[in-house]
Amino acid sequence: MCTPPHFLILLLPGLSSSLLTSPPTHVSIFSTAFPNAPPYSQPTLQPPLSSKTPPLPPLSSPALMLSSSVSILSPKKNSFNSNAGEARYFASLVPLVNCSRLIIHGLSLADDQSLVKSVTREGNPKELLRGPLYYVVMLMLCALVFWRESPVGLIALGMMCGGDGFADIMGRKFGSSKIPYNQTKSWVGSISMLVSGFFVSIGMVWYYSALGYFQMDWGDTVQRVALVSLVATVVESLPISNLIDDNISVPLASMLAAYLTFTH
Ligand SMILES: *[C@@H]1O[C@H](CO)[C@@H](O)[C@H](O)[C@H]1NC(C)=O
Repeated sequence: MCTPPHFLILLLPGLSSSLLTSPPTHVSIFSTAFPNAPPYSQPTLQPPLSSKTPPLPPLSSPALMLSSSVSILSPKKNSFNSNAGEARYFASLVPLVNCSRLIIHGLSLADDQSLVKSVTREGNPKELLRGPLYYVVMLMLCALVFWRESPVGLIALGMMCGGDGFADIMGRKFGSSKIPYNQTKSWVGSISMLVSGFFVSIGMVWYYSALGYFQMDWGDTVQRVALVSLVATVVESLPISNLIDDNISVPLASMLAAYLTFTH
């Protein structure tokens, strides 16, 4: 398992690093981005518990994906007042590096079996150029356009990482009963997406508003996020995955729905 750069482990040292220091079971966009990064051992950032971290539970993937996206948006401890404009470009470099790795390996210009195995479903390097690349591009877009001053980008990330990622896992495990209009999606997956997308998004919005990046009226916010979760879940359930990858349709639909509900 490769180590993340230090600045990835920001405000959530406990969460991020306990997840990131254990090998991911499968999906993980960030952990191998920096194979040559120095060992993750800076004393001030290293949580004391990490060496005793128990093995990851089976649901580690969405959690890992989520912690990555929370991490890039989190302020560095000593840069809370740093220029937000610069910070967002700096944070976008992380997915950018990740992005170039996916392209290089997706085009088979370099060979890295562990990367291919960790983020693709069938082990074909070309798959890197689809879902995983879209995922990283969306992460970058959310960081660049919305950053952490607006709930819109956070909710889009919550739906993509927390909602869709969790739906995928639950659907695979328990999704034998399919949705009538889409035989590749299950009721369990969609309901999981609705519920986890909602809670993850609310959690992220709460977290960043508690840090003071924006202020929310909680009654309204809960209703709006519920509406966005519903939209994202319906979009994810539609039989359009062959036309538009879920990693594009879900964040875009969530962004649009959140933008409309939060600005009107
Ligand atoms: C979306 O991105 C994740 C993370 O790379 C990946 O594991 C997943 O397979 C992608 N989803 C689709 C539908 O391609």
